[in-house]
Amino acid sequence: MDIPTERRSTPTGHGSARITVTPGGPLVVRGDVEIVDAAGNPIPRHRATVALCRCGRSSIQPYCDGTHAVGRPPIHGD
Ligand code: FES
Repeated sequence: MDIPTERRSTPTGHGSARITVTPGGPLVVRGDVEIVDAAGNPIPRHRATVALCRCGRSSIQPYCDGTHAVGRPPIHGD
């Protein structure tokens, strides 16, 4: 899916990071981003690229464990 040029995000000067919204799945975070809980406490991150759950069903919150795909039909028929 093409995003119109005027809607693309631009570098902000706050480090190098990218968050990718996956269809029906997690937010994939690549780069230098600190992840914290609701109280502001850092959440351990052991990989340069992590997937954040946005379906609320993962057993390893805030990270995705793949549960979003269980029992759901594939998106786009694939
Ligand atoms: S997005 Fe993957 S388990 Fe929630």
